[in-house]
Amino acid sequence: MCRHLAYLGPPVPLARLLVEPPRGLYEQSWQPRRQRHGTVNVDGFGVGWYPPEPTIALPSPGAPGGTPAGPHGAPAARAGRPGDGAGDPGFPLPARYRRALPVWADPNLADLARTIASGAVLAAVRSATEGTTPDESAAAPFRDGRWLFSHNGAVPDWTRLPTGLGPAELLALEAHSDSALLWAMVAGRLRRGEPPGGALAAVIREVAAARPSARLNFLLTDGRTIAASAWGDTLWYRLRPGAVVVASEPDDAVGESLGEWREVPDRSLLLATTDGVRVIALRPERKDTPLMNAENPSRFTLDDRLPADYFTTTLHADVTGGLTAVPRTLPPKWFYDKRGSDLFEQITKLPEYYPTRAEQEILVRRAPEIAEATGAATLIELGSGSSRKTRLLLDALTAGGTLRRYAPLDVSASALEEAGRAICADYPGLTVSATVADFESGIPLSDEPGPRLLAFLGSTIGNFDRPQRAAFYRTLAHSLSSDDMLLLGADLVKDPAVLVRAYDDAAGVTAEFDKNVLHVLNRELGANFVPDAFEHVAVWNTEQERIEMHLRSRTAQTVKIPDLDLSLDLAAGEDIRTELSCKFRRDSLTAELHDGGFTVRHWWTDPADRFALLLAVPN
Ligand code: AVJ
Repeated sequence: MCRHLAYLGPPVPLARLLVEPPRGLYEQSWQPRRQRHGTVNVDGFGVGWYPPEPTIALPSPGAPGGTPAGPHGAPAARAGRPGDGAGDPGFPLPARYRRALPVWADPNLADLARTIASGAVLAAVRSATEGTTPDESAAAPFRDGRWLFSHNGAVPDWTRLPTGLGPAELLALEAHSDSALLWAMVAGRLRRGEPPGGALAAVIREVAAARPSARLNFLLTDGRTIAASAWGDTLWYRLRPGAVVVASEPDDAVGESLGEWREVPDRSLLLATTDGVRVIALRPERKDTPLMNAENPSRFTLDDRLPADYFTTTLHADVTGGLTAVPRTLPPKWFYDKRGSDLFEQITKLPEYYPTRAEQEILVRRAPEIAEATGAATLIELGSGSSRKTRLLLDALTAGGTLRRYAPLDVSASALEEAGRAICADYPGLTVSATVADFESGIPLSDEPGPRLLAFLGSTIGNFDRPQRAAFYRTLAHSLSSDDMLLLGADLVKDPAVLVRAYDDAAGVTAEFDKNVLHVLNRELGANFVPDAFEHVAVWNTEQERIEMHLRSRTAQTVKIPDLDLSLDLAAGEDIRTELSCKFRRDSLTAELHDGGFTVRHWWTDPADRFALLLAVPN
């Protein structure tokens, strides 16, 4: 293992960062405190730094009042080598000083560190992995154009790691080491224009899939931003106005306003600039053996993640809580037993219920763009139900050549089973990993190939009120990596008369659907609701901009729910609210997504502007 550090901020002597702080990088070479593997880091060291950028009009020597160049203020007239990946010709390339000695054994370092100042630094002390190059070419930081990179960790059996690199790239490796190999993988992605965080996340995903015990703490900078990962070893950062330090472990430097050291949780990605730090969870680990489908052992798996008592426990809690609350409510998810799902299918075909058709219209038109924009290897679908709309996406993504897996999530095992089998049969190249789960309590993602596209269609998001949506976005943002994307379907605010008709159709299908929840409670809890003693009511809540469905008691009545020991006295005209269906506007939905951790990249509507489909990335 190794220890490493990166800094962005006003120019400071390297010594201030590396040598002077008690327990700083220098001391960590022989006495790290938090290192999880190995003990000392004496197989070399390296420091890379960016020269300060001169302002365009250099102040004449001695002229008073010349603004000193900030670390990276105005662009300098310094061009990168052609083809070196520098990308930004105005940006100065970094310098490196690397040795194969223990850091304390270098007689030159003290003077260099005392006299070189920089506002962007990446340094590392090395503990070599067995069988790697012993000379300084294997000491971090590695470089490509303006990028500097370091790896703290190890990859077991790295010489046989599948990397996707071609012979030219392999022959160009600067050193024979796991770190140099990982750097070639990351650098290849950077050269193709991937953002630094996405490139690190993608390489971690690739390597961890082949070597689950790999330790992959990366540190990457272009002198303006830092991207780092915590994957198997410690990672900390310290932020103060205008400066940030990211390091394997904290030092004991004291000083006014240096900022508190904060630890980054394992399996996260950190993105930092001098303005702030963002920590994004990389995917959670999952250790279980999915159930194999006997007919199709390789391609279809159904993984039941619901606790055995889920239905009883959740239904009891939901019904007791909801029916004793003021006003009385029942959560819409209990509509969907077999009969409820069939009724919903019928609703989607009603002349008044436009959302399904409107979303379908958008998907037909935009699926190729979605495939192009996401390049998704996995399509995850929340609340997939019958997966009908999914086929449009699957067609486009398989035509785009990127898709390898479809991962539907639903509470209904039977719906997943049925739809999963059908999709398996129709898409021969596709692996289908279905998960039975209640995504409200977290999204169980694991080893899906990335980038992943998570689709949540049909405006089911509208069933959540504002606070529930905020919590849901946070859960999502936490589950997704920075190169994943969210595809969200949202019904839009429109003429209330149109909306009310969509939820109170002439044929009465929606009324039957609404009352179906009472059939569910009768069957599951031994209740004695008489469904026709209730009237289905759909109202437009102007203030909250949502349709509310109610079951209104036609008379004063008492309902018994034996399994819950509940006796319910309902007055004539009293309502049980059974569903919220919030409608959205572009500005406010974009804003709430932003607050929840997502940036909207595309917003598409149907020709009649009734419905929106949006593509967002973790911000
Ligand atoms: C499946 C939740 C999106 O709110 O429009 C349809 C359910 N309720 N008609 C919606 C529903 C009544 C639907 N969602």
